Amino acid sequence: MRIAFSSWPEIDARLKSQSPLARTVVVPIGSNEQHGPTGLLGTDWLCPEIIALAAESANEAITVAPTFNIGMAQHHLAFPGTITLRPSTFMAAIGDWVSSLTRHGFERIYFLNGHGGNVASIEAAFAEIYAEWSYADERAPFMLKLRNWWDLPGVTDFCNRMFPEGHGMHATPSEIAVTQAGYPDSIKRASYSPRIAPIGPIRDAHDYRARFPDGRIGSDPDLASPEKGQQIIDKAVPALDADLTAFAAEQQP
Ligand code: NI
Repeated sequence: MRIAFSSWPEIDARLKSQSPLARTVVVPIGSNEQHGPTGLLGTDWLCPEIIALAAESANEAITVAPTFNIGMAQHHLAFPGTITLRPSTFMAAIGDWVSSLTRHGFERIYFLNGHGGNVASIEAAFAEIYAEWSYADERAPFMLKLRNWWDLPGVTDFCNRMFPEGHGMHATPSEIAVTQAGYPDSIKRASYSPRIAPIGPIRDAHDYRARFPDGRIGSDPDLASPEKGQQIIDKAVPALDADLTAFAAEQQP
């Protein structure tokens, strides 16, 4: 069930149902930021959305929220099309999403993330949310979980075997391939120089553009193909389903 394509009585009925996943919701979360000369700006929110929707197509018991598609990407701001929230705004917005979803009875909020730069802020947002319950000496009536899509069991190993060199850290062939599988009409090609991009630390936007002139870090996106992307999706979907089922079954001690 997709929240955006449901009516409120349908969500209400889902929340009151006996399904093991009735009160669990997946929030695809990512970033709209440059992904090298050929990668889609939406790559980091498209990947978790593609995987979450594929899992929902295979198992209608899974509820998928609208995609949280702007994240923490200040270091990409020297590239046009990038949109970022500062960490404090991003964390506040995550808090409001959680408050909205839990108000109606969702008890397990599962953030399927597509952007490494979001991780620290999402974890900090979770701590801010839990802190309110801890100060109040009350038990939070919900649990939060962060899972990067590439950290779904078996997916990173699968991608590393698929791309033994040139995977890199940004505009990776695995994430580019997933978007190619999801949106084959939007595939872009170019020649890259150097073929494998440099690596280095991530700081501010000027520093980033000077170190990584075309936006990539350590990657060769030309290795991507829609067929490889579909294989990654096919690996991720059952792993997500199993992860959600286990999360929904977790008991509060
Ligand atoms: Ni990315």
